[in-house]
Amino acid sequence: MVSYKELGLVNTREMFAKAIKGGYAIPAFNFNNMEQLQAIIKASAETKSPVILQVSKGARNYANQTLLRYMAQGAVEYAKELGWEKPQIVLHLDHGDSFELCKSCVDFGFSSVMIDASHLPYEENIALTKKVVDYAHQYDVTVEAELGVLAGVEDEVSSAVSHYTKPEEVVDFATRTGCDSLAISIGTSHGAYKFTPEQCTRDPKTGKLVPPPLAFDVLDAIMEKLPGFPIVLHGSSSVPQEYVDMINQYGGKLPDAVGIPEEQLRKASESAVCKINIDSDSRLAFTAAVRKVFAEKPGEFDPRKYCGPARDLMEELYKHKIINVLGSNGKA
Ligand code: 13P
Repeated sequence: MVSYKELGLVNTREMFAKAIKGGYAIPAFNFNNMEQLQAIIKASAETKSPVILQVSKGARNYANQTLLRYMAQGAVEYAKELGWEKPQIVLHLDHGDSFELCKSCVDFGFSSVMIDASHLPYEENIALTKKVVDYAHQYDVTVEAELGVLAGVEDEVSSAVSHYTKPEEVVDFATRTGCDSLAISIGTSHGAYKFTPEQCTRDPKTGKLVPPPLAFDVLDAIMEKLPGFPIVLHGSSSVPQEYVDMINQYGGKLPDAVGIPEEQLRKASESAVCKINIDSDSRLAFTAAVRKVFAEKPGEFDPRKYCGPARDLMEELYKHKIINVLGSNGKA
């Protein structure tokens, strides 16, 4: 058993309380490799933003959980080296799908875990979430749960409306599970194709897709039922058009990729939404930078020469999100 406290990490409790009061959101950036982690820590240290390092089950399989944990521990030291005196860094399991996986992360130094039982029937979601909460809270590890289904994750749910979290369930769910934060579904979804072209309109000037707005009425209803309770938004990449264009310009093929407009995320950050998950945007930045180097310098074969520019572009992206979208700069 390794406690996250020994690693210099923090849980989300205080971070979320401050974010709700202050009208900003904490960035939750996924990481799988060293360059992503360096870029996240540099951006957070330079902007003094609290940050959540997210590890998915896939990342654990890709990078090895032991390595990821030591990387997170190293990230705390790296942040200090960069002049961030008291780094506020959370190591979080993204989309835990079983009690065993969540327990193993708690035992392994994570400071926060998500149990995503949103695909299960309501009572089963409650039972599994409560089991994880009861275990994690013994070690002061915070737990995120999910209610409602994000499009793109649960494809068999066909009606757009039925994806949304039902506000009438949230009090019962939060009370009976004891979860620390709640991921809700109000129209975001994972990946670079969040909406089909049919769900969007087209800007007549640019020809680009304009997605439908998030369901702020559902968010408002949830906040009314659970005043001051930490709310989480998954699937919140904006799919910046400049990265999509760069990828397409240098031999990629991402037609009609579309994300959540940043103004909507800015608006959400000012509410009880205190954690915003971003993964795809960093994948796009990485890919765009690498493709550019490969196209412009086909003789290049030193990974530092293409992963370095990818890291720089991701750092720029993370800083932009922190300062211009989430507003978490200067809060740690
Ligand atoms: P994006 O695919 O929109 O980046 O969402 C990431 C996410 O929610 C991870 O849980």
